Order: sequence, then C-alpha cells, then structure tokens
Amino acid sequence: MKKIAVLSGAGMSAESGIKTFRDAGGLWEGHDVMEVASPQGFEKNPELVLDFYNQRRKQLFEVKPNAGHLGLVQLEEKFNTTIITQNVDDLHERAGSSNVLHLHGQLRKVRSTQFPELIYDWDKDCSLGDQCEKGFQLRPHIVWFGEEVPELMRGAAEVNQSDYVIIIGTSMNVYPAAGLVGFAPEGSKIFYIDPNPQINYELSRMSNLEVISEKATVGVQMLLDKLL
Ligand code: APR
Repeated sequence: MKKIAVLSGAGMSAESGIKTFRDAGGLWEGHDVMEVASPQGFEKNPELVLDFYNQRRKQLFEVKPNAGHLGLVQLEEKFNTTIITQNVDDLHERAGSSNVLHLHGQLRKVRSTQFPELIYDWDKDCSLGDQCEKGFQLRPHIVWFGEEVPELMRGAAEVNQSDYVIIIGTSMNVYPAAGLVGFAPEGSKIFYIDPNPQINYELSRMSNLEVISEKATVGVQMLLDKLL
C-alpha cells in the first residue's frame, strides 16, 4: 500500500468555523498570539491564558468536521494515511481519521506545569487551583512558541516514508512544523491546498509540487478525484 502524509494547519478547520491565526492580522480571536501562546504569556497572566483555552475548548463542542476532514478519511481506503496536524482541535479524529499526530498539542487535554508527562483528558474548564496528582497547577496541553515539539521526529519519519505529501491550510511559516515537508523523499509527489498558498524555502526547492489554490473542502475533493 502506498503511503500518504497529510500536513494540516488552521485553514483545514476554517470552514468548520474555527478562526485561523494569521488571516486576522496576527490577532487570534482578538489576542496577540504571544499573549496567549507563549510560556511568558502564561507566566504573566495565567488566568487570561487558561480562560482563552477554556473558550477554545468550549467552541470545539459547537463545531463539526467539514467536508475536507471527511474527505481525507476516504484516502484510507487506498493508502496508508497519517495526518500530521498543527491543529489542536479534534476534528480529524471526529471525522474518522485513524492515525492523527498532533504537533502542537490538543485542546481536550491538560498537563502538569511541573511534570509534563502527567497529561489528562479534560473536557471542562481548567482554572487556577486545578492541580495534577502531585499538587502542581495544570496548564493547557498545547505547544507554545519557544517550546519543544515532542512529536516532531515522529512526524518527520512519517513524511520521510511517504509517496504523497499533502499540505492543507497552513501559512507554512511556523517552524519547525513548516519544515517537515523537507523530509519528503526524492520522487514523492507534493500537493499544497490553500486559497492563499505561501511558498516557503522548503517548497521553493521542490519540482514535484502541485499547488491547488482552493479552500480545503473544494481542494480535498479535487485531490480525491486525482488519487482515488
Ligand atoms: N481552506 C484552506 N486553507 C485556508 C482556508 C480554507 N477554507 N482559509 C484560510 N486558509 C489558509 C490561509 O490562506 C493560511 O495560509 O490557512 C492558512 C492559515 O495560516 P495560519 O493562520 O498561519 O495557521 P497555521 O499555519 O496552521 O499556523 C501554524 O501557528 O500560532 C501557531 O501553533 C499555532 O499551529 C499554529 C501555527
């Protein structure tokens, strides 16, 4: 069975009603990205950061997978498919994709601020005073700017074994995630679906790149027509 790695970003979930980061001029739901997505921001105002992710978590229960998420599930009929997403929502899983790797964490989990390996499923709000079993404050299980990306090497290995790499809805400028496509083996075919594609350094070096300048729902259908 041939292998596909899908690299998805915020644009994948845009048509489900979840706002992207950079389409709104660097503001994320009205906040400076660094204010709510950095360890410094959390140190400065933990309440604001916890509240911000509480709202994002609540929003998850009001949205559903779109035709793009659902379409990608069909790839599994013919390909060994892994989704490597920068998204912290669970829409790929809810659509039915079997192998999903979250590079930047997951909204429906929290972890200990002191013991990062203590990770908990969490569907309610997380507040100051909520503690891990060892008595330390819990925080969102999200990879913030300046933090390590624990799943990076697994993602790179997946891309490195793939016959097709499909990039969907990412501005390709947040590293190291944006560099993963550089691990695509010689001879693999790369598709990039995005209404406003941005060709970064790695993509600029690829002769086997096909850009589909469409929204995820439309672009995924075009891709399925080509591959299935
Ligand atoms: N379908 C597909 N792509 C879309 C759609 C859509 N309907 N709407 C917008 N887009 C595209 C935009 O053109 C843009 O290229 O989605 C991309 C969104 O880019 P960003 O907002 O920068 O999101 P992303 O690349 O996922 O951000 C990466 O930045 O703040 C961090 O950790 C956060 O994972 C996030 C990372």
